[in-house]
Amino acid sequence: MITFDAVTKRFPDGTVAVDDLTLEAPTGEITVLVGPSGCGKTTSLRMINRMIDASEGKILLDGVPVQSIAPPTLRRGIGYVIQQAGLFPHRKIVDNIATVPYLLGWDRKRARGRAMELLERVGLDAALAGRYPFQLSGGQQQRVGVARALAADPPVLLMDEPFSAVDPVVRTTLQEELLRLQSELNKTIVFVTHDIDEAIKLGDKVAVLRVGGRLAQLAAPKTLLSEPSDDFVREFLGHDRGIRRLQFVSTEGLRLRTDLTVRQGGEGGSSEEPWLLVVDEQGGPVGWIAGARPGELEPFGTFLYGRDSMRSALDAALLSPSGCSVAVDDEGKVVGVATREALDEALAEAADG
Ligand SMILES: Nc1ncnc2c1ncn2[C@@H]1O[C@H](COP(=O)(O)OP(=O)(O)OP(=O)(O)O)[C@@H](O)[C@H]1O
Ligand SMILES: [Mg+2]
Repeated sequence: MITFDAVTKRFPDGTVAVDDLTLEAPTGEITVLVGPSGCGKTTSLRMINRMIDASEGKILLDGVPVQSIAPPTLRRGIGYVIQQAGLFPHRKIVDNIATVPYLLGWDRKRARGRAMELLERVGLDAALAGRYPFQLSGGQQQRVGVARALAADPPVLLMDEPFSAVDPVVRTTLQEELLRLQSELNKTIVFVTHDIDEAIKLGDKVAVLRVGGRLAQLAAPKTLLSEPSDDFVREFLGHDRGIRRLQFVSTEGLRLRTDLTVRQGGEGGSSEEPWLLVVDEQGGPVGWIAGARPGELEPFGTFLYGRDSMRSALDAALLSPSGCSVAVDDEGKVVGVATREALDEALAEAADG
């Protein structure tokens, strides 16, 4: 666990970058620091590995003040990832990743072996190992940056806007891969971004900072969206807060109808119904038909029942002229159909809190 205890950073010119910051970044979780430019995110992060020293207050790593640990020792246990990866341009990818193992005195073979293992872990082809950073795309470089930070298997990972220099599609992929990696590695991660959507997607907890380095709110993403502490946080969260909150509302318990399906080329369903869902032999959805009339199959949208959020269920409903969304299981088999009425009910419940 990383603890900030009343930490202030005043630079020699008098700038107060961080002001009386108290927060905890729990072990094995992702804590995101988010806020506008200049609010002290980078400064806060760098005080953890002592690239910057705090002026007042204490930062503790599992209860031990970082000020009492020599920086080289401290940094051995802390991986650091920055924007544009910051790779060494004249070193091959494999040697970039092996930077810390080399510093730790590992022999070349072992260090490179570890680097190759990490290359795979972050989803990169082994063939890239012999290239130089300029021969990689921005997204690939960013992955190498993550691999390098993980090389000595540090328990703590500091990430400063690591994905902000890549396009939105690559960024989404990198975010998902970070979550996948984290589910395997359980690092204590402090992640800095100015993008609130990224914060909400990645954070177990999100700390919103305001300019002047003051903590505005520290909460789980869901709480942040439903109960912003003041106007600053509300504005920072943006306008479609309500819709985004549905990401955190489960589809578990959503009322489903099972009498609206009909076997492909077979029996079932009532011709009284305005829409019927055609399913194939394996129970997978094929398309909607209007009433029991054979004819055009209309498009459908699915969500994983109990696992996907209400936002996905609603999205699935909007993809189909039937206005219903199709609940499926892990194998893609239809579990049932959420009608507009059922979705309405669930939305009303969500609005109630
Ligand atoms: N060495 C320094 N001397 C004086 N002021 C500094 C120094 N480094 C940073 N600052 C100031 O401290 C404040 C916080 O800077 P910091 O880099 O932590 O912000 P940030 O939240 O990371 O911003 P960004 O989103 O733009 O990266 C800013 O006002 C910045 O100008
Ligand atoms: Mg910064």
